[in-house]
Amino acid sequence: MTKMIFSGAGAQSLAEDIAGASGIPLGRLDLHRFPDGETLFRILDTVENQDIFLVARLDNPDAKLLHVLMLANGFRQQGAKSVTLVSPYLPYMRQDIAFNPGEIVSAAAFAKLISHNFDRLITVDPHLHRYQTLDEVYEIPTYCVSADEPIAGWISSHSGKSMIVGPDIESEQWVRKIAGHLQAPYQTLRKIRRGDRDVEISLPDLTDFNEHTIVLVDDIISSGATMLQTVRRCHLAYPDAKILCCATHCLAAIEVLESFASEGVQAVAATETVLGPNSTIAIANQLSKAIIKSAGR
Ligand code: R5P
Repeated sequence: MTKMIFSGAGAQSLAEDIAGASGIPLGRLDLHRFPDGETLFRILDTVENQDIFLVARLDNPDAKLLHVLMLANGFRQQGAKSVTLVSPYLPYMRQDIAFNPGEIVSAAAFAKLISHNFDRLITVDPHLHRYQTLDEVYEIPTYCVSADEPIAGWISSHSGKSMIVGPDIESEQWVRKIAGHLQAPYQTLRKIRRGDRDVEISLPDLTDFNEHTIVLVDDIISSGATMLQTVRRCHLAYPDAKILCCATHCLAAIEVLESFASEGVQAVAATETVLGPNSTIAIANQLSKAIIKSAGR
């Protein structure tokens, strides 16, 4: 036995699915919380000379990162050959520039922390906007899984003729691939962000597509402002549009998701990179293939 999967930071069910799909055994951990708030970690399986894959859901990362770093160092203390972080959602990637004096470029700072504590990183559709690749900030080998096929599969089971719409320039990278799988037309809009929940989206041209379901696609739904504003712009251009929304990562609160229905959206779906009521699109198979591929190098 040379490889073992562990679950950290709320990823137990995903780690089980990945273990099942890859045939790699799932290791066991025991965590004890002391009255002072510190944690005692016990690794219940032998990790000596093993390649360890730590599956961790790092949405809401500030509360989870310390556990993940402690585990990485713990595996090493006990003789692991390598430790790979499998973080299906890669946080802090949207903070890739300092807009004001004194602001930290958190994407680069976070990348350093991960690079110094892990041997490799596997993730799904990282938010690459001003960086072209993760190699610009990560100092370890990185493997990016794409959710385009599972998302295209979801769309084809929920819509006949689809018109794929991305809300901003950077969504083009996902929208183009998904539209390609579906052999569907696509367009990307222009977005101006004025604040966390204040965005302006350009008007789509849906003139020739009134037979189509409008499918909005983005990598992330967070506050929901981008998607909801795009829904409103589509309804303005085409009031009778049937609209579906999907994203790779859905970080939105349940109240936000409920407001999609009140805007007339027929369904919202995301992959299981982040746990949530709408995270129904499976991604474990793609992650298990990436684990097998990365371990061979
Ligand atoms: C940023 O450009 C991303 O691709 C998403 O459009 C953005 O993160 C969505 O955030 P929100 O839901 O808060 O508008």
